[in-house]
Amino acid sequence: MSKTPDAGDSPDSKALSRRRFLRGAGGVAAGGVLAQGLIGCAEAPARATAQEPPEPAAPAGGETLEGELEIELSINGQARKLRCEPRTTLLSALRHRCEPALTGTKEVCDRGNCGACTVHVDGKPALACLLLAVDQRGKQITTIEGLGSPEKLSALQQSFWTHDGQMCGFCTPGFVMSIQACLDKQPKASLEEIKRSCSGNICRCGTYPAVFEAALAVARGGK
Ligand code: FES
Ligand code: FES
Repeated sequence: MSKTPDAGDSPDSKALSRRRFLRGAGGVAAGGVLAQGLIGCAEAPARATAQEPPEPAAPAGGETLEGELEIELSINGQARKLRCEPRTTLLSALRHRCEPALTGTKEVCDRGNCGACTVHVDGKPALACLLLAVDQRGKQITTIEGLGSPEKLSALQQSFWTHDGQMCGFCTPGFVMSIQACLDKQPKASLEEIKRSCSGNICRCGTYPAVFEAALAVARGGK
């Protein structure tokens, strides 16, 4: 079936998309982040379009901005106090309001489309960009930093490394968190179950085959 041309197919729009992509990819190369996505160190490029005003950064020196609340969240087994507005998403709270910041959880689309911000809330995978931080009080939040460390990767993180399951690494923390939730529930998950568990995660580099290989290796008891 032939593709129906539309405004998005014009040469100019393609060139623009390509430029945006290359700008993002250039940032990745410059950062030397190829191996860092596993532990969440790779940084996503700035969003191409800013549709909402950015949230103000946390004030220095312990001041509280007007309208902010002080809340306590349980993150990776630790009680973390932070200040945020009622509208602050869990993703923003993790990345910008925690001290030290937890930047392993990635912000890519910020609207529930890509899975890059996947964390566990009470053991279930959840998109941190769609949750309000204030609503997570009393829940157990786990981020990619809670699975393993650079010195001691979790079995799944190690398997991603062994099977080359990442390229730029922006999507990797989200994939690891989605698949880990599946393996926690079903340690011997099948390929179909693994695929289903990360069906909401998008990898723009196309590393899906290696991601599935890495996950299957863990499900079969290897690394
Ligand atoms: S950043 Fe949350 S789904 Fe894309
Ligand atoms: S490894 Fe680059 S987006 Fe998935």
